[in-house]
Amino acid sequence: MDYLLKTGDPAKLKTPCLVVGIFSKRQLSPLAQQLDKSCKGALQRIVKRGDMDGESGQQLLLYDLPGIEAERILLVGLGKQREFNRKQYTKCVTAVTKSLNQNHAMEAIWGLCELLSGDLTLQQAIRETIVSAEASLYKFSETKSEVKKIQRPLKRLALFIHDRRHLKTAQKALSQASAIATGITLTKNLANLPGNLCTPSYLADQARKLGRDESRLKVRILDEKQMAKLGMGSLLSVSRGSRQPAKLIIMEYSGGRPGAKPVVLVGKGLTFDAGGISLKPSAAMDEMKYDMCGGAAVFGTIKAALAMDMPINVIGVVPASENLPDGDANKPGDIVTSMSGQTIEILNTDAEGRLILCDALTYSERFKPAVVIDIATLTGACIVALGNQASGLMANDDALAKELLDAGSDTGDRAWQLPLWDDYQEQLDSNFADMANIGGKGAGTITAACFLSRYTKKFKWAHLDIAGTAWRSGAHKGATGRPVGLLTQFLLRRCGQ
Ligand code: BES
Ligand code: MN
Ligand code: ZN
Repeated sequence: MDYLLKTGDPAKLKTPCLVVGIFSKRQLSPLAQQLDKSCKGALQRIVKRGDMDGESGQQLLLYDLPGIEAERILLVGLGKQREFNRKQYTKCVTAVTKSLNQNHAMEAIWGLCELLSGDLTLQQAIRETIVSAEASLYKFSETKSEVKKIQRPLKRLALFIHDRRHLKTAQKALSQASAIATGITLTKNLANLPGNLCTPSYLADQARKLGRDESRLKVRILDEKQMAKLGMGSLLSVSRGSRQPAKLIIMEYSGGRPGAKPVVLVGKGLTFDAGGISLKPSAAMDEMKYDMCGGAAVFGTIKAALAMDMPINVIGVVPASENLPDGDANKPGDIVTSMSGQTIEILNTDAEGRLILCDALTYSERFKPAVVIDIATLTGACIVALGNQASGLMANDDALAKELLDAGSDTGDRAWQLPLWDDYQEQLDSNFADMANIGGKGAGTITAACFLSRYTKKFKWAHLDIAGTAWRSGAHKGATGRPVGLLTQFLLRRCGQ
């Protein structure tokens, strides 16, 4: 969808539909009050008849109000003014864009951006509007043979800004938000594809596609031979259990000063996780196509950086592999040697994410990174701990952890920090190798991070466990695009925006 800004006398806005808010107890928002004056109290009179009290979720479509140029006015109930916060706002964007998409207007002016004062800045409101609007209209149809076309879908949404002095900031927020929305959509599209289509080679092709005709993005793909030469015995041991060859995808985005240290994003790109010889139970195993969501989030974040021309250097590293139970697959008890030289006893072949990430993390040393952040659907235990609301965050640097937590609260794409104390490390002790790949019963999310911490000693590092946040199950099964919102905000803050 196209987004733009509109300002001026609200009564004179020429548009098929103008969206206006009403708070509980028939309290007109400032924009509604202004319009009410232009139509000599008609709005107030309609509201008094009782069709629109301003309760959250209500919508009322009005046609041809006297003195108002807009063809339609869509009145939207916002609930109690004092309780109107980000969550309410997002709910309202989602519901209203869905009905605008159905009501044949095709274009609309959105008059709700300036309603939030305490809890959201104008910039945040604009971002929230665009990101939530895109999310509410998103449909994955690449693998449907027939797509139901909506008659006259919403094509353009103009955000009404009353105060001209805010136009410049608003414009910046608008272009950033559209870029972020594009990134989130890419992440969802990659993630929602099934494992038979979205293979490591497919991901590699998508990376090349992203870099095509883009002087700011250099893409390199390492094949298994090249990985073997680098000594990535851990990563390759996982892909040995599958017929699809592993790929190491490297995307270098140079938007910052030449030579400025890059932020390195390492995303788990496990295109299907059957568990290997430690086979998973079959219930909901289809959802393990989403085990590449960390990688997909790296793609999406880089796409967003490109789209908004972000002034920063970012390198995406995506180790891509399947985890299947072939005759040549890892067996419990097998010992492999990682690129770092450390040996690993594989006690559970289903703890494969850390096995591919450790070599990708060691590989990242060569970029002399400012910081490294890995993003992974790493542990079921993280869903037990945090549910589907927050991503798990662990880090070897508290300042970096704080930056990520703040970026999360800024955007509503939140993370919650778990401790990475040394006390947990002994759970990884092995009788036969330098470490085991599992840490026993307790604190599965933390011991997974402890494992990774042994490969990140040379840089500042944070780990996001997105097992609970990357996709939804059930009737609305689908990728969420998280944590692209958090990561882009982190990068924007890093370049002072
Ligand atoms: N990809 C899974 C983690 C996962 C499971 C994410 C369910 C989302 C939903 C990961 O590779 C895995 O299997 N982890 C194991 C680790 C265990 C063997 C120590 C897990 O969480 O059960
Ligand atoms: Mn697994
Ligand atoms: Zn996995």
